[in-house]
Amino acid sequence: MNILLLGSGGRESAIAWKLSQSALLTNLYIATGNGGTLTFGQNVNMSILDFPSIATFCLQHEINLLISGSEAPAVAGIWDYFQREDLKHIAVIAPSQTSAMLEGSKAFAKEFMKKHQVATASYLEITKENISEAYAWFDTRNPPYVIKADGLAEGKGVVLPESKEEARQLIDDFVLNKRFGASSEKVVLEEFLAGIEFSIFVYTNGTEYVILPNAKDYKRRFEGNIGLNTGGMGCISPVPFVDDDLMTKVENEIIKPTINGLKADGMPYDGFIYFGLINCEDRPKVIEYNCRLGDPEAEVILPRIESDLIALFQAGLSQKLSSFQVQISDQASATVMLVSDGYPEAYEKGHNITGIENVHLSTVFHAGTTLKDYELVTNGGRVLAITSLGTNIQEALGKSYESIDRIRFKGQKWRSDIGFEFV
Ligand code: AMP
Ligand code: GLY
Repeated sequence: MNILLLGSGGRESAIAWKLSQSALLTNLYIATGNGGTLTFGQNVNMSILDFPSIATFCLQHEINLLISGSEAPAVAGIWDYFQREDLKHIAVIAPSQTSAMLEGSKAFAKEFMKKHQVATASYLEITKENISEAYAWFDTRNPPYVIKADGLAEGKGVVLPESKEEARQLIDDFVLNKRFGASSEKVVLEEFLAGIEFSIFVYTNGTEYVILPNAKDYKRRFEGNIGLNTGGMGCISPVPFVDDDLMTKVENEIIKPTINGLKADGMPYDGFIYFGLINCEDRPKVIEYNCRLGDPEAEVILPRIESDLIALFQAGLSQKLSSFQVQISDQASATVMLVSDGYPEAYEKGHNITGIENVHLSTVFHAGTTLKDYELVTNGGRVLAITSLGTNIQEALGKSYESIDRIRFKGQKWRSDIGFEFV
């Protein structure tokens, strides 16, 4: 099987690594890939949003399977584009454009959840026409408030103001001043849910699904969960408090109604759903849907999946997912991100990376790296994900931190307390 994978981060490195272990793989291409994906396939310099070039590449290289690692091609409609007569023999692992709105539009996701009775926070949709309802919402509730820009806003579209005044200013800024352009002309106000967050992943063909390993990521830049939000500084799997009882609730109150909703609304889906959840008074509720694997979640969950990933996709595409037994390792997995100094704000690129060849206890997934004159250099904020397996989270983390000692690049930074609540 010939595969084209779209994306260039740590998540796509982990997907490429997993695909490369399959006996079903013939050729793997990654657009655009990074300094590490070269080990698993051939990097292709092509925009992941340039659908005509992607189509031409697929036809020229006899691609059988196109996988969207990132949400951007899905939200832009890659699944629908490949319904074209000359392309429809190429299977696409991505949600349809309508399904991708579960991630692309918070208001769409909330409406979908309400209609299909998926457990989530109560909400109100606000535009400039009904902005007075937002002020009334703040007047009749206690802080903190939850304000979410409807559209994609590079992870900055959710704010949790601590006072009525701040909430009013923020809503004016989002809706009237269009802080995130069209993405914040509409916002969603949500009931604040107190609890502990975790993430559940499924692979689905829109009617059947399999549950993949769960994970918890650490988004804040600094130890003790303080500082700016990042894409994720580290991750662990499995999450110790996610027991059978909680999973039964997640499956019955969240996963099944979601998949049934996709089916009922005729929303085609062939790919991953990432459920961002909060356990609020022992009831799991959806905070957000993503139509992809997470990053760095992929770097901890894929190493725990023992089944062949291509065989899993084939089972999904041939409507045989219900009988596919996905094998999941009992081992714990942890990843620690090595990031550039200054990330998630301004940082330098182009620093030499050395020592990866001395790492034996962990798998090093490349994120922001590239080759410059045949030398490996930094090329992003999140540079490398150092993933290890162990009999428990503590052991896995210990291996990752030992491996970090062997890797060097100028300005390298990391969080020294990933998984701190559980060790
Ligand atoms: P989101 O982009 O929707 O995942 O939101 C970003 C973060 O805001 C989440 O990871 C939560 O920590 C927080 N958050 C979002 N919605 C709520 C809510 N309804 N109650 C409490 N915290 C929330
Ligand atoms: N680590 C969070 C995400 O991928 O959205």
